[in-house]
Amino acid sequence: MNYLDTAITAAREAGKIHQQYFTSDFKVKTKANSFDLVTEADVKAERKIVEIIKQSFPEHNFLGEEENYEKTDSPYTWIIDPLDGTNNFASGLPIFCSSVALAKDSELIAGAIYDASRDELFFAEKGKGAFLNGKKIRVTEHDCLEKSILITGFYYDRGRQMLDTLDNIRKFLQAPILGLRRLGSAALDLCYIASGRASGFWEFELNPWDFSAGKIIVEEAGGTFSGRFGEPVDIFKKGYIVASNTRIHPLMLKVLD
Ligand code: IPD
Ligand code: CA
Ligand code: CA
Repeated sequence: MNYLDTAITAAREAGKIHQQYFTSDFKVKTKANSFDLVTEADVKAERKIVEIIKQSFPEHNFLGEEENYEKTDSPYTWIIDPLDGTNNFASGLPIFCSSVALAKDSELIAGAIYDASRDELFFAEKGKGAFLNGKKIRVTEHDCLEKSILITGFYYDRGRQMLDTLDNIRKFLQAPILGLRRLGSAALDLCYIASGRASGFWEFELNPWDFSAGKIIVEEAGGTFSGRFGEPVDIFKKGYIVASNTRIHPLMLKVLD
């Protein structure tokens, strides 16, 4: 299997695991704090994704949310969020997905995100555009905040990061924007920017597995993906993320400044 097909197969297989657990009883545990949950589905889905990728690319590196992997000499790294939107999943709210990205050195070359509840598969390959269920997708054309729906997220922090986010929510609503949403899955938030369902997204702190597949999908759909000040994002580090339809990017950065 080639890289993209492998990413797609792995994301879809993880989606099957999501569906099996979502409709039955499953165990939920907390991680770093009481807002940070992990379920059996997170762990099972990551194992499945890695098993599928290893069948074709046993020498590649892995960066996943739930497990640590031994480093190899390969320039390729698979960046995996087996279940993005765990708190929604654990509450029975059907907004969650699997996210699988592949980087060569520090550049993303493919990504797939699968939302099993809606049977929506988003994917992109470097230089080849972004797709939803096989149809090409594009960001919105809005050039002002007044016409824009924005999406944000809150990291599992109820301190400084929450205060910063609340301050920025106030500034955006006063800008004004058309509307603000908090869906609870950063990977899907990014797919919705890519597919023109919303125009901009920001979040104080995301991990590589939250944003990597979404980054290549947004960029291949004509969007822009940056740090808080417009700087490029290091895909192997946690960071502040701003993503948009490109046209409103400077306007968003101005509000966030
Ligand atoms: C979380 C979701 C959420 C975002 C958090 C992430 P998880 O990922 O993407 O939307 O606000 O910052 O950690 O824990 O559900 O994989
Ligand atoms: Ca995540
Ligand atoms: Ca996760």
